[in-house]
Amino acid sequence: MHFALESKLQGGLHAFEQRLARRTLPVPVSSQTDRDNLVDFTTNDYLSLTRLPALRNKFLQKLTDAPNILGSGGSRLLVNGEAHAALEKRLAKFFNSPIALIFNSGYHANVGFFSCVPQPGDVIVYDEYVHASVHDGMKASRVEKARRIAFKTNSVDDLRRVLLGVRKMLKEKSAGMGGDTSSVFVSVEALYSMDGTIAPLTEICDTLEELFPAGNAYLIVDEAHSAGIYGPQGRGRVAQLALEHRVLVRLVTFGKALGATGAVLLTNELIRDYLIHHARSFIFTTSLSYSNIIAADASFDLLMDGTGERQSARLQENCVYLVTTMQKRLSTLGVAPKLLSIPPELCIERPGSNPPSPILPLLTSQARALSDYLRSLGIIALHVTWPAVPMGEDRVRVSLQAGHTREDIDRLVKGAVGWALQVAEKESKDSGASRSAGQRYEVAYASKL
Ligand SMILES: Cc1ncc(COP(=O)(O)O)c(C=O)c1O
Repeated sequence: MHFALESKLQGGLHAFEQRLARRTLPVPVSSQTDRDNLVDFTTNDYLSLTRLPALRNKFLQKLTDAPNILGSGGSRLLVNGEAHAALEKRLAKFFNSPIALIFNSGYHANVGFFSCVPQPGDVIVYDEYVHASVHDGMKASRVEKARRIAFKTNSVDDLRRVLLGVRKMLKEKSAGMGGDTSSVFVSVEALYSMDGTIAPLTEICDTLEELFPAGNAYLIVDEAHSAGIYGPQGRGRVAQLALEHRVLVRLVTFGKALGATGAVLLTNELIRDYLIHHARSFIFTTSLSYSNIIAADASFDLLMDGTGERQSARLQENCVYLVTTMQKRLSTLGVAPKLLSIPPELCIERPGSNPPSPILPLLTSQARALSDYLRSLGIIALHVTWPAVPMGEDRVRVSLQAGHTREDIDRLVKGAVGWALQVAEKESKDSGASRSAGQRYEVAYASKL
């Protein structure tokens, strides 16, 4: 490589390294033995389906019975696999949607939809925390930057403020031009992947319908993290709130709670036809292999036969246990919020609050150090830093699973709180103070755990 390119690339990486924000691959978990000795709070296998013998056996049986298992032969436009079409039909029915269209991943689906469906002159309003794939789709779209507008996460008031501005702008622009033909697309996630917060979907629908009674404002809900967990048979938050007919598009991904790979967009026939014709991330790629489709099909069997709901109940019990234990320890041991805290909106006992979330951010100004410390205790929970989260909002992201035991969760809480108190003790020693938070921790744990 020429030295000029080499130094530019190295310089680029160095800048991130200095901010402790360089992305690297985590240490591989190489074998089952490694896995068994570690407690993993990173994977999005929320229902622990990948570890269930029932799913493994079902998948292997389906593979044995299937006429095709390897590859897929090309793009869907070249080879439309029977298994792919059959799964789409099954999912449309399951999710109570007119149409289902499978993409190779949630990333492909969001990029595909946002890059081509919004038309020139349209507006996209998005929650400030929507996934990178929505941003990449918007950037590739024909919607100019000034018409792509963020609102404060989960704030219906802020969404209303933004939509009122959009309505005014569209009215002014269309004055004397025979009426406005613009559409407004609103992009949200049902459950935010870095914050664990749950979107107020019903209120969002109400606001859209109130401010755009002509019906030209459309809601797109990303259920990447909520599908499988919430709603009857794990059909997601939109189904749980009976909003199927008030949402234009739902995205369900197969790679998280479903333990497979791929994604499906649930929408109407016209949008499906438009995507097939225009979405480059659908057209110009080899479709999922038959074995991927079979794996997803097997996972949906488990949602339909009630296994998913049982796993989800366990998962939600774990969520409540983690949040309540963590809250109690943090407050009784007097941990400074700067060192370690959890977002107040994830507290379980709030009246009328949302269902428990499997994602818990451990907010700390020293996320990498906490993650490294937990790893030394055999606990994997990765730190997340800018640009995946806003600057100054570093965290260790904890992803709970149905298969975690109370002991696993206790280990995590003990490890994280213990680390914070050690840091506090060191800081207070360094500043010459006499109070020993570490001693308090030892005493408190000896009596409480
Ligand atoms: C909210 C959200 N949407 C979409 C995606 C992309 O899904 P996939 O992993 O299937 O590409 C992710 C994945 O991290 C996600 O968190």
